[in-house]
Formats: sequence, C-alpha cells, structure tokens
Amino acid sequence: MATKILVIHGPNLALLGEREVAVYGQFTLEEINQKLNGLAKQENIELEIVQLDGEGEIVEKIGKARKSFQAIVINPGAYTHYSVAIRDAIAAVGIPAVEVHLSNIYAREEFRHKSVIAPVAIGQISGFGINSYLLGLKAAIDLLRK
Ligand code: DQA
Repeated sequence: MATKILVIHGPNLALLGEREVAVYGQFTLEEINQKLNGLAKQENIELEIVQLDGEGEIVEKIGKARKSFQAIVINPGAYTHYSVAIRDAIAAVGIPAVEVHLSNIYAREEFRHKSVIAPVAIGQISGFGINSYLLGLKAAIDLLRK
C-alpha cells in the first residue's frame, strides 16, 4: 500500500498572499501546495491536500482519515488556540499528526501562545513560513519510515 499523507490547511489560509502579508508572506496557498506536491513526488508519497474553513469540516475530515492515511500535517489556523473538538478528533483517530504554523505563534499575541493541539501532535513546527509545511511533511515521512 502506498504511503498516504493528508495535509489540512485550516481557516483563512485560502487568503494567503493577500492576508496580513507582513506576518504570513506573499506566497499563495497554491504555491505552498506545489512545493508540498514536489516534495511528495520526490519522496514517493501520496498526498491529499485540503483547505477547510469550518471546525466541523475539519473534525469530519480527520475522522474519515483513519482508514486511508498514515499521517496528517495540519495547520489548524485560529482553531489551534481553542478547538477541543479538533484536538479530540486527532486523539481519537490515533494517526500521527504534525502541527505546523507559518508564523511563530509564540512571538505574537498572547492568545496565540497556547496550542490545544500540541499535546496530541507528534510535534509542532512554527515560524518558518512555507518551510514549516515542508519540514512538517518531511518529519511525517521520516516518522513513517522508521
Ligand atoms: C497560523 C497562526 C494562527 O494563530 C492564526 O490564527 C492563523 C495562521 C499560522 O500559520 O501562523 O490563521 O496558524
């Protein structure tokens, strides 16, 4: 069976390139996805990439991932800081999840300093822009190959 990894971009990430460029950079979601697909191809991994704004949609996607994916790379966006539902979904499926953030959440407003997702993630990568995703995907792949 080919290794399949699910990448979830959370709320407002479809607006990258226009949204708070000083914080998030000028690249678009499409550019991130192209880079992720390039890395996946190089590593011989199958990827599904989705962008979901709704908390319930994310919960549903994680719940269904159980049967077909070996790992999840997720940027939960603002849900990072308060969604117990997404946290519980990750804990429930038991698939290793890597939490990624474009910005360094610890260098920003205080309400961003807490991640309710981090305790159920394998690890967190925060602050490296596009590279946060690439490092996150690489970490997930390496983990599965161990
Ligand atoms: C973010 C950080 C969150 O605090 C914020 O709400 C986002 C993006 C990041 O990638 O840096 O939407 O997850």
